[in-house]
Amino acid sequence: MENEKSILNTGLRGVTIASTKISDVDGARGKLVYRGYQAKDLAGKISFEELVFLLLYERLPKDKELKQIDSDLKNERGIPPELLSALETRPRDALPMDILQAAISMLAHHDPDSREYSREAALRIALKLIAKIPTIVAAWERIRNNRKPVKPSPDLGHAANFLYMMTGEKPDDERTGFFDVCLVLHAEHSFNASTFAAREVASTKAHMYAATAAGVGSLSGALHGGANTRVMEMLLNIESAEKVDEYIENILNSGGVIMGLGHAVYQIDDPRALILAPMSKKMGERTGNLKWYELSKSLEHKAKEAFREKKGRDIYVNVDFYSASLYYYMGIPVDLFTPIFAISRIAGWAAHVIEEQFGGAADKPALYRPESDYIGDYCGAEECSFVPMDDR
Ligand SMILES: CC(C)(COP(=O)(O)OP(=O)(O)OC[C@H]1O[C@@H](n2cnc3c(N)ncnc32)[C@H](O)[C@@H]1OP(=O)(O)O)[C@@H](O)C(=O)NCCC(=O)NCCS
Repeated sequence: MENEKSILNTGLRGVTIASTKISDVDGARGKLVYRGYQAKDLAGKISFEELVFLLLYERLPKDKELKQIDSDLKNERGIPPELLSALETRPRDALPMDILQAAISMLAHHDPDSREYSREAALRIALKLIAKIPTIVAAWERIRNNRKPVKPSPDLGHAANFLYMMTGEKPDDERTGFFDVCLVLHAEHSFNASTFAAREVASTKAHMYAATAAGVGSLSGALHGGANTRVMEMLLNIESAEKVDEYIENILNSGGVIMGLGHAVYQIDDPRALILAPMSKKMGERTGNLKWYELSKSLEHKAKEAFREKKGRDIYVNVDFYSASLYYYMGIPVDLFTPIFAISRIAGWAAHVIEEQFGGAADKPALYRPESDYIGDYCGAEECSFVPMDDR
């Protein structure tokens, strides 16, 4: 039956669904604020551990508090041996985000805190997830390459320890520092798709493992966290600066999207990209190969020009555009870029789950339940009468 109703496809743009004290994104002015501080002012000045404290406990830590959270996270890095054994049984070509999502659900099986509904239990789970997700991602990278997982090192901070568990080699200070900045910049971004997914699950009073697994599923998509992997695949595919014009032309003519450009909220270059771009350049210089940085720059400029010409409006770079070449220079496998996003974003997801469940009217999250507009069939003015199988 021809349907004359218009189809709603808003993606909830511009709809405010909750209050939050965790972060603010000012899309017009390109500002990202974590609990009152601009992310760009924190990047390079605080460690990821310090940011975790800020997001979870609503203020920057004092020295003793930072030492405590650092030690708590270190104590929680290990993962159950049963989980490691289960990872060994997975097909080696399984997608790392699928592995991570399943592993997070399995962590719940081993944690009695998943059966307790309280702020204290949620905070304990938050620290466990923040500590264990890097171990899972690194272990999977080793296992799929038929190598033994590397045990976490209590001598290393969060950023350095992940790189160490992934490669088996202790990273130098510059590499560690850059990775720490990446973790700080990706940790939180208000009601993006994965945070919304995590909060929606939390609104049912499900535990943080369930909410986080939902967040990981959402982050894996190409239009969200999956974009950083696709940016690098795109750069590898374009391969040389001479092919940039042709690539842009083909994408725009076919109605496709250039990965790493555009954003649902920013109407200006993403403030995180402005920090990541020079970091990519520096890493490129360090490796003696500026090709991927320069190709990204050329693609950015030419795509912006083409957009103005063809669409009569501007387009901007998002966080994934320069993180791709930066991670590549750091020797991180391309399909781990999105799990690395999750290693950082778990801090934001956890803060949001706690705020959703215990932040407002205590213990009374409002179950999310939006409306939809039914545009399916009716049989005339009335509902259809059931027709038994033999009469259809
Ligand atoms: C992120 C994204 C989904 C936001 O989409 P959105 O909110 O619909 O974006 P806008 O409303 O600003 O843009 C709408 C228009 O710009 C186009 N556009 C947006 N991003 C584009 C891109 N990266 N390449 C080409 N065209 C793009 C859309 O196709 C649309 O065109 P139309 O008006 O001719 O139909 C989109 O920009 C995108 O797909 N980007 C690539 C994937 C990516 O990098 N994701 C990570 C986001 S952090």
